[in-house]
Order: sequence, then structure tokens, then C-alpha cells
Amino acid sequence: MLIAANWKMHHGPGATATYCSALRERDLGGVDVVVCPPFVSLPNAVQLLAGTEIGVAAQNVHWEDEGPHTGEISPAMLRELGVYGAIVGHSERRQYFGETDETAARRARGALAAGLFVIACVGETEAEREAGETQSVLRRQVGALGEADDHLVVAYEPVWAIGTGHTATPELAQEAHSLIKSLLDVVVLYGGSVKPENAAELLAQPDVDGALVGGASLDVDSLVAICEAGR
Ligand code: PGA
Repeated sequence: MLIAANWKMHHGPGATATYCSALRERDLGGVDVVVCPPFVSLPNAVQLLAGTEIGVAAQNVHWEDEGPHTGEISPAMLRELGVYGAIVGHSERRQYFGETDETAARRARGALAAGLFVIACVGETEAEREAGETQSVLRRQVGALGEADDHLVVAYEPVWAIGTGHTATPELAQEAHSLIKSLLDVVVLYGGSVKPENAAELLAQPDVDGALVGGASLDVDSLVAICEAGR
């Protein structure tokens, strides 16, 4: 069971230090936890979680080691900080910052080649689901990622469920996860309005291997409650 906390643009260095100091004292009951703070908060998270089993990952990563790419961060830079992995291809980056299947895949392959662990996000929009295109979208997005890798995890995040309070039903999540696993032999996380109240039902599905949690991961108690639900 893997629970990844995607803080998005929340928790600067100070709030990160407070959060991580509290989290390291908590019993996570053997659930693997990864926190994904904003770039500027990564050093504090790495320092404050050192010596624990809790991983620290970035929310994005470029594929090259260095170069003229204003605003980007390289896999080598993350490695230098002691960061363990990165999210790539999140739907907010696809929707608002021009991320494509191709750039998401380049980020994933570059990070994997550098020895980072990768959470690659896929998922259909509401319009795509209504048009009956969910399967073809998932096939295209997952297909673009290339081959399976021990360090590659896919997060199924239906765009209509992210930050909306509208979680996929456990049946819908299971159906999508089973399709993704038939395409790529990887761990698959569910994401989209996961909270302590709905986590147990979602995480009980046979092909749901964990969760990528946004809003409900911003509070330590709520993240720990989701881990408890997953046990
Ligand atoms: P949410 O975000 O849990 O706030 O819906 C999930 C995500 O975007 O990773």
C-alpha cells in the first residue's frame, strides 16, 4: 500500500518543517508514504524526514541534466538534494501548462534513467468520459509512457474527480485500474478527492494499490487517517 501526498502549491518551507516534524512521530502502520512538497520546500522535507521510511518526491522534473530551460528542475538536481522521486504528467500541468503525453513521457524516462522513482499521472476529462473515450484516452496516455519499470508507478486520476469532491466510485476506479494494469505491469494509485471517509472503500479494490492524495494530504491527521483506512 502506497499513499502519496501531493501538496500542489501549498506548504512553503516553514509549514513543511512543521508538517514533517509532526508526521515523523506518527505510526503509519507499515503503509509506504511519500510526500510531494513544492520545490522550495524539498530541502526541509528531506532533512526532517531523514532516517524515516517516508519518501520525499517533487511534483515535476525535466528530462535533461542541465540546459537552457527556464523554470525547470533536473533529475540530477533532485538527486543532489536527496529527493527520491517525482510526479510527472499531472492533469493540472496538462490542462494549464501545456504538458502533453510526449513531454510527460520524456520527464518519466529521464527521471527513471537518473535513478528517481516516478509517479506518472493519467486520467480522462469529464467530456472524454461522457463521449465514451475513457478507455482510448487511458490506452493512449499509458502507451506513451513506454515500458514498465520497477521504479514507475501510475496514478489514475480522473480529471473530473480532482479537487471537486466527486470521487470515482470504487467500481469505476477498479475498472480503470484493471485496464491500466493490463497495459503496463505497474503499481497503480487512485487519485481524485480521496479523503479519510472514502479511502477504505477505494483502497479495498483489488487493483487499487494505493492513493495519490491532494487536498486531504495537507493535514497530518487526515493523511494518517487515510493510511489507517488503507491497512
Ligand atoms: P485531490 O487531488 O485529492 O485534491 O482531488 C488529487 C491530485 O490531484 O493528485
